[in-house]
Amino acid sequence: MLRESTIQIIKSTVPVLELHGTDITKRFYHLLFTNHPELLHVFNHANQKQGRQPEALANAIYAAAQHIDKLETILPVVKQIAHKHRSLGIQAEHYPIVGNTLLAAIKDVLGDAATEPILTAWAEAYGIIADAFISVEAAMYEQAERQDGGWKGFRAFRVDRKQKESEVITSFYLVPQDGGAIADFEPGQYVSVKPEMPGETYTHIRQYSLRTHRESRTIAFQSSARTRCTIARQARYRVTCTIRSRKGIFYG
Ligand code: HEM
Repeated sequence: MLRESTIQIIKSTVPVLELHGTDITKRFYHLLFTNHPELLHVFNHANQKQGRQPEALANAIYAAAQHIDKLETILPVVKQIAHKHRSLGIQAEHYPIVGNTLLAAIKDVLGDAATEPILTAWAEAYGIIADAFISVEAAMYEQAERQDGGWKGFRAFRVDRKQKESEVITSFYLVPQDGGAIADFEPGQYVSVKPEMPGETYTHIRQYSLRTHRESRTIAFQSSARTRCTIARQARYRVTCTIRSRKGIFYG
């Protein structure tokens, strides 16, 4: 449990960190991808480029830190984020990497204002927040694997058939290559798809909502792009267009 003085440091420094939010986030991702380029396989590059997602991670850490003395009150949010992490295969060993990188970014941006007691307090608080995520995610991984027809990590699926629903929507019907059963799913649940993309340095993972349609040993999802996959649009909608043009193997 954190000491009261540590909790006070955390709570009083959250506004400062939020004030420098964009600078810290930029520095954080720069350091993260420079020192751990392997993480480019899990982060969504399109989100990074468009600046859509980048601040979510750091902001969630600040928000959790504000509730550091009663983390149970934010458990629903932790679970929601943990679902996203689970779908991407985030592991316990990734947490120290993110924690150390965030501290380094804070230090770089705040300079002398980031005193030793402040950095130590944040390291302790991050450790507690990370442990909460790690244990929620561990339970999710175990449940996903142990259920009937469940699996660990990514599983190879063959595209059984594709059906063009409209100019912008295509349905995909996938069967597992191992011929095994598939766990039941609820409408609205999503599947992470990692298509084989020849010529790409990094893997790309995208989530698609599963369709209510259900055939034995088959899962179905729809891919939609706001626009048709013309040559000019293919760079922007790289993953969607690759998925649509291929018959190959996906990993879900
Ligand atoms: C306590 C630490 C962490 C917190 C509070 C946190 C928070 C978040 C939040 C709020 C999101 C957005 C969720 C959504 O879009 O639904 C997110 C997404 C994500 N997180 Fe975390 N995260 C943490 C640790 C990590 C770690 C250790 C990794 C792995 C290196 C990671 C990788 C990701 C990725 C890849 C995404 C998807 C966003 C994208 O691709 O741009 N996170 N996280």
